[in-house]
Amino acid sequence: MSSYDARFRVWRGDAEGGDLTDFSVKVNDGEVVLDIIHRIQATQASDLAVRWNCKAGKCGSCSAEINGRPRLMCMTRMSVFDREDVITVTPLRAFPVVRDLVTDVGFNYAKAREIPAFVPPAGVGPGEYRMQQEDVDRSQEFRKCIECFLCQDTCHAVRDHEENKAAFAGPRFLMRVAELDMHPLDAASDSGLDRKRTAQEDHGLGYCNITKCCTEVCPEGIHITDNALIPLKERAVDRKYDPVVWLGNKIRRRSSS
Ligand code: SF4
Ligand code: SF4
Ligand code: FES
Repeated sequence: MSSYDARFRVWRGDAEGGDLTDFSVKVNDGEVVLDIIHRIQATQASDLAVRWNCKAGKCGSCSAEINGRPRLMCMTRMSVFDREDVITVTPLRAFPVVRDLVTDVGFNYAKAREIPAFVPPAGVGPGEYRMQQEDVDRSQEFRKCIECFLCQDTCHAVRDHEENKAAFAGPRFLMRVAELDMHPLDAASDSGLDRKRTAQEDHGLGYCNITKCCTEVCPEGIHITDNALIPLKERAVDRKYDPVVWLGNKIRRRSSS
């Protein structure tokens, strides 16, 4: 097994502030960035804070920025870098730092709670749901999400705009709205919930200008923009300009005035 010494710069600090610290650390064949962070922790900085669980790209906890790009540390092979490279590891920029590489991702849980859940269809019991395979496939793609929040971190609508966070759910949660809106058995509209309208008015769909940066960083390869956000935008626009919907809204407004 061959090994070499790599140069790492790791952000250390807390909510009050911090800085990059240099480390020279051994790298063995086949290792990933998380291995190196663990070696730094074991040999040079025992109080270095880092969040991780599975080391298999499935728990979504080890998200960080490696050379400025949002990535999973456990899925970033050291072999993608040149041996001479200085590798910078910093916490997710869009979320408040707790300590070192650990951020507070509570924003995402708050956004998740704002989305009304799936509404089961009336008169159909568990085990009696029937769907076309293509409808199953569509939502299966979105359900591969491991909630790493790399897409949320990279989206420019919040990355440099803290002020947008209140109004914008971010790609992961707009994808959830899209999934529910596409679900053939979701009965939300029977109780007056229009998911297309809430996507625009409550979850900030209009902030997304389909740059596809979220798709580029998704470790699950989910086509967030093409398969969730753009179709949701198209349906929301159709709804707005559909003459039947327009007439219905006008009649509803008149009868309620
Ligand atoms: S496509 Fe939309 S949600 Fe995704 S990063 Fe760009 S602006 Fe954000
Ligand atoms: S959609 Fe992809 S990038 Fe976003 S949280 Fe889920 S797995 Fe992570
Ligand atoms: S440790 Fe679970 S995704 Fe990296």
